[in-house]
Amino acid sequence: MRHLIDPLDLNLEETGRLLELAGKILADPAAYAHRCDGRILATLFFEPSTRTRLSFESAMLRLGGQVLGFSNAQSSSAAKGESVADTIRMISGYADITAMRHFKEGAPLVAARYAKIPVINAGDGGHQHPTQTLTDLFMILRSRGSIDSLTIGLCGDLKFGRTVHSLIKALVRYKNVRFVFISPEELRTPGYILKEVVEPSGHSWQEVRRMEEVMPELDVLYMTRVQRERFFNEEDYVRLKDSYILTPEKLAMGKKDLAVLHPLPRVNEIHKQVDQDPRALYFEQARGGVFVRMALILALLGLEPQILDKKEGTLC
Ligand code: NCD
Repeated sequence: MRHLIDPLDLNLEETGRLLELAGKILADPAAYAHRCDGRILATLFFEPSTRTRLSFESAMLRLGGQVLGFSNAQSSSAAKGESVADTIRMISGYADITAMRHFKEGAPLVAARYAKIPVINAGDGGHQHPTQTLTDLFMILRSRGSIDSLTIGLCGDLKFGRTVHSLIKALVRYKNVRFVFISPEELRTPGYILKEVVEPSGHSWQEVRRMEEVMPELDVLYMTRVQRERFFNEEDYVRLKDSYILTPEKLAMGKKDLAVLHPLPRVNEIHKQVDQDPRALYFEQARGGVFVRMALILALLGLEPQILDKKEGTLC
């Protein structure tokens, strides 16, 4: 049995096959409409979500399966003090696969150790968000035709943004990627990611403060929200929240085929007028998340056996 807790739980070939399957599903969703008949997905969301939870549910429903779950910790027995280990033991009897979002880093990993069903990390604190990464890679691939040889700007809250952490981990495995980290001093990419992930990859990288400095060089601009809920005090958030606002004027400095991505939700960091620009791909990116999650559910349930290598049991 396989889980998806960290983006590296899928090797590069598996990731490629999964994205290819997502593309096939997108092209012909009707062909997959009954592949999960009789199966149940449990969505265990201890932290707020719109896209991730609903796209998981939509994915399972579009595969013919059913869904159950909760969308906040207060409505679950966690509010009574139940541990993640106990919750997952029980859910293993109620569902065939589960997606878990938790405010504590590492909670889905703990769940995977006790689960009898595949566990998908749908975001753990400021740590990782591997299914958003697959969604991001899918959009990059669809818009650029390849994930190799791209200059990728990651902009905003690179410190607390788990989507950024996961995306960097996944991107270092592609060829000739150049990273441009755009953030205020206080929200720079964590040192451990630079030291343990970026530097050993040998890819070139730089850190800049101003988006305008690098805009003409970028192939992909990945915007992120300042993660208010992870700040220790409100004043710091208020000071930093509008560090970057992508406006049509700034976008005018970008390449004609720049891909502007955002995991969403957007707060202020992309001006609404940018939505009209054909390079603004974030809503299409979010739509792609459904097909990616359909592919992932099929793979983890063993219903598309060619996707995952047999030998690589990651956690179990
Ligand atoms: C992201 C998250 O939850 O980390 N949202 C998402 O899943 N699409 C990004 C964010 O909340 O800023």
